[in-house]
Amino acid sequence: MTPPSIRPRRLRTTPAMRRLVAETRLHPADLVLPLFVREDAVASVPISSMPGVSQHSMDSLVRAAETAAEAGVGGVMLFGIPTVRDATGTQATAPDGILNRATELLAREVGDALVVQTDLCLDEFTDHGHCGVLDSSGRVDNDATLERYAEMAVAQAFAGSSILGLSGMMDGQVAVVLDALDAAGYIDTAVLAYAAKYSSAFYGPFREAVDSQLTGDRRTYQQDPSNRREGLREATLDIAEGADIVMVKPAMSYLDVLSDVAEISDIPVWAYQISGEYAMIEAAAAQGWIDRKAAVLESVLGIRRAGADTVLTYWATEIAEWIT
Ligand code: PBG
Repeated sequence: MTPPSIRPRRLRTTPAMRRLVAETRLHPADLVLPLFVREDAVASVPISSMPGVSQHSMDSLVRAAETAAEAGVGGVMLFGIPTVRDATGTQATAPDGILNRATELLAREVGDALVVQTDLCLDEFTDHGHCGVLDSSGRVDNDATLERYAEMAVAQAFAGSSILGLSGMMDGQVAVVLDALDAAGYIDTAVLAYAAKYSSAFYGPFREAVDSQLTGDRRTYQQDPSNRREGLREATLDIAEGADIVMVKPAMSYLDVLSDVAEISDIPVWAYQISGEYAMIEAAAAQGWIDRKAAVLESVLGIRRAGADTVLTYWATEIAEWIT
C-alpha cells in the first residue's frame, strides 16, 4: 500500500485548527427571534408543543426582547394573538390591535438595539384561520386579500415595524405592499418576502402557538413540497417586485431550495427554522436520544451553510448566549 499524500485530516487535528478553517460561522447578529404576544395574557403562557417558547403578555414580551438584545440577536419577528377574530381580520389593521400595539412598544423599548419586524399575514386575525379573505365560495380571494395586506402594511409601518414579513403567499403581494408603503410615505420600511413558503406538516406547533382557527389546509396558496423549480420562480418574482430580503421556509426540509435561491439572489437570503423543526429536536433531546446543544447548533449551521445569511429560529437568544 502506498501511503496517501493527500490527507484532509490534517485540517481536523485540533479544536484550534478546526476553528481556523471553519467555512461557516454562527454570529448572534445573523439570528432573528420569533415572538408571540397574546392580547388577553397577563403573564406568559407556555406553548406545550414548543417547550421553552411562550405566548407573551406585553410585559414578558419586552423582557424577552431585551434579553435577546443583550445577547446580541439581530432582530425579533412579532406575531399577535388577538382576542377577537372576524372574517376580514379587522384587528390586523386596527391601530390598537395587539400586534400593532406590541410593535409600537418594542420599537420604543428595544428598537435601537435590534430590528423589530412583524408578520404580515391575516391568519392570526381571521375567524376561519386562512391567510386571506374568502370569496363567496369559501376560496381564498387573492386580490381582495392584497387590499387587506396593503392596509396592514401601512398600519405596521405606522406602529414602527422596520421589516414587514410577508408570509401569506398571495400572488403580487410584494409589489402591492411596496406601493402602499410608498403612497403613505414609508419609504424606509423594508419588505421581507417569504418567497418560497411550502405547505408543511412542520407548522403543526405554530397552530397551537397562535390559537389557529384553521380547519383545512393552505395548499391553494402555499407551495407543494414536491416542487423545487417553483421555489426559484417564487423567489425570482419577489425579487423582481422589489423585495428587500427573500426567505425560504421551512428550512431543514428545503435546503435544496435555499441553496438554489442563494445562488441567484442579489439581495439577502433568509431561512425560517419553524415550529415543528424546533419541536422535533426538543422532543428527541428530552428523551435523551440526541445531544440538545450539539443538535441545535448543527441544525442552524446547516441552514447557514446551505445559503441562508440569517436564520429565524426559536433558539436565537440561547444560541447567541452560547456562541459569544
Ligand atoms: C403565517 C405564518 C405561519 C408561520 C409563520 N407565519 C403559519 C403558516 O403558514 O401556517 C409558521 C411559523 C412556524 O411554524 O414556526 N402567519
